[in-house]
Amino acid sequence: MLCLRSRTQDAWLQRAIGATRDILVDHAHCERKAATQALMLLGRFPDVTALVEPLLDLAREELEHFELVLALLQRRGWTMESLAPSGYQAQLHALCRKAMPGKLVDLLLVAALIEARSCERFKLLAEHHPDAELRDAFGGLLAAEARHHAVFVRLAGRFDDAEAVRVRLDDLASAEVAILESMPPLSRIHA
Ligand SMILES: [Fe+2]
Ligand SMILES: [Fe+2]
Repeated sequence: MLCLRSRTQDAWLQRAIGATRDILVDHAHCERKAATQALMLLGRFPDVTALVEPLLDLAREELEHFELVLALLQRRGWTMESLAPSGYQAQLHALCRKAMPGKLVDLLLVAALIEARSCERFKLLAEHHPDAELRDAFGGLLAAEARHHAVFVRLAGRFDDAEAVRVRLDDLASAEVAILESMPPLSRIHA
């Protein structure tokens, strides 16, 4: 069960379908960043052993997703290019508390929200994109991203009590909606 507080509107889906190359380039960056973020968490909290196995597994899986999206781009004759950050992730990270254990809980919950939004939007693309290969690819990623969402929420629960984590996730989920609504209509997974 995803924790999102809003449902993506059709305008985003139409924009994404109309700018498939841009969405795939952004998606490739998202998968790369997901792997990087998991490793960065291990770097920032090297003594928190509960993180090691789940985040290593997750990073491996995100790298596989990155490879898969690169292949989708390549088969269409499209190449990766650098993208300026949209600010979505940075704005979510700016909400994270600064002191432990809240800092770790928030970083994990923000990661959970990013996964949840990816999952929600991949589902839309899996159902409605006119390109059958892309529908299959997005459909194939859904289950993994939903699982990643659950992994991050479960990990957050190891560092605070269940009710506190639930309340904090709800607050951050509301903030995520406000961040999305404040963004210009970019052709990005999270915009
Ligand atoms: Fe992924
Ligand atoms: Fe993921």
